[in-house]
Amino acid sequence: MKIERLPPVVTSLGHTNHPYMTGAWTPLHEEVNAWDLEVLEGAIPTDLDGVYLRNTENPVHAPLGRYHPFDGDGMVHQIAFQNGQATYRNRFIRTRGFEAEQEAGESLWGGLADGPGTSKRPGFGAHGGLKDTGSTDIVVHNGEAIATFYQCGEAYRLDPLTLENLGVAAWAPLDGVSAHPKVDEETGELLFFNYSKHAPYMHYGVVDATGKRTTYQAIDLPGPRLPHDMAFTKNYSILNDLPVFWDAALLERDIHAVRLHKGVPSRFGILPRHGGPVQWFEAAPTYVLHWLNAYEDGDEVVLDGYFQENPTPRPLEDAPDGHGHLMAYLDEHSFRPKLHRWRFNLKTGETTEGHLDDRILEFGMFNQQYAGKPYRYAYSTTAKPGWFLFNGFVKHDLETGESWSIQLPEGRYASEAPFAPRIGAVDEDDGYLVSFIIDENKGTSECVLVDAKRFEIVCRIALPHKISSGTHSVWAGRERLRA
Ligand SMILES: [Fe+2]
Repeated sequence: MKIERLPPVVTSLGHTNHPYMTGAWTPLHEEVNAWDLEVLEGAIPTDLDGVYLRNTENPVHAPLGRYHPFDGDGMVHQIAFQNGQATYRNRFIRTRGFEAEQEAGESLWGGLADGPGTSKRPGFGAHGGLKDTGSTDIVVHNGEAIATFYQCGEAYRLDPLTLENLGVAAWAPLDGVSAHPKVDEETGELLFFNYSKHAPYMHYGVVDATGKRTTYQAIDLPGPRLPHDMAFTKNYSILNDLPVFWDAALLERDIHAVRLHKGVPSRFGILPRHGGPVQWFEAAPTYVLHWLNAYEDGDEVVLDGYFQENPTPRPLEDAPDGHGHLMAYLDEHSFRPKLHRWRFNLKTGETTEGHLDDRILEFGMFNQQYAGKPYRYAYSTTAKPGWFLFNGFVKHDLETGESWSIQLPEGRYASEAPFAPRIGAVDEDDGYLVSFIIDENKGTSECVLVDAKRFEIVCRIALPHKISSGTHSVWAGRERLRA
C-alpha cells in the first residue's frame, strides 16, 4: 500500500476515557491518500465503478463541556472502485466552525449535552449554540458530495473524487439544511427540509439537477420540532412532526431537553414534490430517526422506517460515570427501533401501520434506483447492545417476508452500508453492500463488500488507518460524479 500523508491539523485533544472518544470511536486526525490497497480476502470486483463516501465524527480539540459524539468534527472517508482497483482518501470537512477552531487552537463551541452559555461564540442551526460540523450525513447531487449537519447547517460541498472542499451550497437557505436531504437519481433533484425554533418552524425545498433551488415552502408546525429525516415518492414528499421534541418551558431558559409529549400523536405531512398544500395524517406516537423508502400504491402512500418503541429511554445503568443518559440515547437496544410500515390513504385520510419485523434494526439502505417506487429488498444494520456500534446486517425480502443476516465477530464494527449496483445489474439486489469495518481486536480498519444477492462477504480490503465510527454514508456510481 502506498500512503501520502497530508500536513497535520491543529489539535488540542488530550487523553480521555470518554466512552465515545475511545475504542471504535477514537477520533482520527490524520488525512491521507492511499493506493494499491491490500486485498485481505476475495478479489475487488471488476463490475463495481464509483465511490463509497463515509462521514465520521472526529473531535480535534478538547471539549469545552460534556462531549457528545454528534459534536465531533466531520471527516469524509472515500474508497473509489474502478476496473478491479481501489483507492482510499479521507479529509476533514472544513466548515466555518472547523476553520475558526483551527485558527483559535481550541474549542469555541459547546455541544449537544452542554448547558447554555458553554459556547464562546454564537452557534449554528436549529439549536443555535452548536458548531456546524457537517458530520451527520452525506449525499451526492449535481456531481458534488454534500455533507449536512443534523441540527440544520450550511450544507458543505466536496468533490466526491478528490474530496477537495468546495465551500457551502449556494442553494442552502438561511435556516440551513437538515441532515437527510434526498436525491432522486432518476430526476437528479435534491429534496430537503429544515427546522428551527421560530415560526413556521419548518421549510421544505427542492433543488434541481443543476443546483438551482426551485421550491422553498414554509411548513407550519405547532412549535419547534426535531425531525431528522424525510421521504419521497414519485409525486409526493413526506415530512414529519413527531411527539419527541424540546420541552417548551425549559427552551425559554435556553435549555434543550428532549422529552416525549404524552398523548400527542405522530403527524405526517404529505405534499406534492414541487410544493403545494400539505395533507396531514395522524399515527401512533413514536420517534423515527430514519426512513427506508416510500412509494405510491393506488390511493395510498406507503412509508417504511424504524419505529422507536421507547424513544426516551432511561439512563443506561452500567454506563461509565455520568454517561448513562447519553449512552441510552445512543443505544438502539434502549430506544428499540423496529422495521415498520405506515400506509396513508390520500382519499380517506386514514393511516394504517404495523411492524414488519420484531428485531431491533436501524440505518436501512436499499437500491436507490428504486427510491420513491415499489421496492422489494431492504438492508438494515444490527447494533451492539449498549453502544452506537453496528455488529451486523439484515436483508429483508419485503415481498415474501424472508430475511437473511450477517453477524460480525465480537470487536468488529461496521459502518452504514449502502447498496452499490453491479455494472449491468438486472435484478434489484444485483450488487454489493459497501461498509468500513473497525476491528478493535487488531486496531485496524478495512472495507468489506457484501454480495447483496447471496448475502455474504465476498471481499475485504485493508485501509491505511483505523477510522472512527460515525453516522452516515452514500454510494455514488461513476456516472453521478463530477467529470
Ligand atoms: Fe441520520
